[in-house]
Amino acid sequence: MAASSSSTSVLLLFLLFGFAASAKDILLGGKTDAWKVPSSESDSLNKWAQSVRFQVGDHLVWKYEAGKDSVLLVSKDDYVNCNISNPIKKYNDGQTKVRFDHAGPYYFISGEKGHCEKGQKLTVVVMSPRGKSITATSPAPSPAEFEGPAIAPTSSATVLQSGGGVLMAIGVIAMLVF
Ligand SMILES: *[C@@H]1O[C@H](CO)[C@@H](O)[C@H](O)[C@H]1NC(C)=O
Repeated sequence: MAASSSSTSVLLLFLLFGFAASAKDILLGGKTDAWKVPSSESDSLNKWAQSVRFQVGDHLVWKYEAGKDSVLLVSKDDYVNCNISNPIKKYNDGQTKVRFDHAGPYYFISGEKGHCEKGQKLTVVVMSPRGKSITATSPAPSPAEFEGPAIAPTSSATVLQSGGGVLMAIGVIAMLVF
């Protein structure tokens, strides 16, 4: 019925809010020195990336030997062609940390000659569970706002973090209704 399907939608919405509560630092490949030419296709970083849920606000962290390798953020074309001549961003500090500030695909390749061709490349698809409209109407608080009364700038974070509690409440209500 209409009532029950809209309750289900609300439940799903709150599930998504619950998952959105915390931004994570995600270590590439789940271990240090994962940024290298893969030994086999089954070892590919993209397989790992597909098993991970990346969300706006998360950071991806690369650990590798500085000076021996680099991370290039590139366009899709340059990713496909392994073109290292024109990166959007280049990192070679050995402790590369990239924040995903928007949803969508990100393309990374090694800046070492020949490595990308041998499979040292990575596509990350970042999800935005909060949806476009909400994201558009909640600008990031500026440092000045933090100096004012705490209520305004922290309110949206509070709503997000209480998502779990609201979720439980909704779950209880749903059980009572059905
Ligand atoms: C790599 O990209 C540059 C700049 O976009 C371009 O001039 C060059 O021809 C490309 N090289 C290859 C091998 O595609």
